[in-house]
Amino acid sequence: MQQLLEEITQQLALETERGKVADYIPQLAEVDPHQFGISLATVEGERFSAGAAATPFSIQSISKVFTLTMGLGKLGDGLWTNVGREPSGDPFNSIVQLEHENGKPRNPFINAGAIAVVDAIMMGHEPRETLAELLSFVRYITDDQSLYFDHQVAASEMAHKDRNASLAHFMKAFGRLRHDVDKVLGTYFHQCALAMSCDQLAHAGLFLASDGVNRPSNLRVVSPQRARRINSLMMMCGHYDASGEFAFRVGLPGKSGVGGGILAIAPGRGSLAVWSPGLDEYGNSLLGARALEMFVQRTGWSVF
Ligand code: DON
Repeated sequence: MQQLLEEITQQLALETERGKVADYIPQLAEVDPHQFGISLATVEGERFSAGAAATPFSIQSISKVFTLTMGLGKLGDGLWTNVGREPSGDPFNSIVQLEHENGKPRNPFINAGAIAVVDAIMMGHEPRETLAELLSFVRYITDDQSLYFDHQVAASEMAHKDRNASLAHFMKAFGRLRHDVDKVLGTYFHQCALAMSCDQLAHAGLFLASDGVNRPSNLRVVSPQRARRINSLMMMCGHYDASGEFAFRVGLPGKSGVGGGILAIAPGRGSLAVWSPGLDEYGNSLLGARALEMFVQRTGWSVF
């Protein structure tokens, strides 16, 4: 495995077409697109990594997997009252379906859906309380107390919030959000600004690869059924309007972020994190998806 990750890293280092870093969040536009990291954590407890796997980056939408997990923990199936579980076939920040569908976002991974999940987990609390809860959850599943929110990234997104603010206000008009829109957005932007390395992210995903059980503590995070359901949502919706393409090429539940990271789960085997900041036209990591495709071709680790 170690050799495979190194080969993938070396091969992709030669790549000149690396995609385009996200620039609608100015802080992300400054990230060097030549960085690449890959990390694998297996359910047996082995760790492999190559490239810049220890460098923290902005996990952005990958954080939606963690808030979804928290939301299901707090509300159970009640979470589905204000968010659906169908692929949207539209870009991550699209507003079009909200108007026709009573302000109910299609799934928890598009921005509107993730904003609805944040509203649901706030449960009348202040943003800092919800964020503290999120941070302790992620520190627990990574077994790493050093995780932090990058406040500069959050502030940068807050200063350019118009698109997400529109989604939130629109949903609020349909009665889908309970809390003050600015508080929901402030919480959401900090959630997206979680900084994690590939090593930390691969560790965080392990519970989804091992029927809901955290490793190495062996403590249960979610039931096996819930782990399967979260994985199914990642497979169907984790790459937005490119989810079909990702399933076709990689065949693993995956969640991308505009920071250039992808978390991919190989159920029963392990959790993989890749990072390459350049994005494709859908806002997903160009070389990250390529790396996962190479990994799956060599290992056969697809769910199909
Ligand atoms: O709300 C946003 O636009 C960002 N904080 C997150 C979007 C994102 O990561 C889309 N993923 N590829």
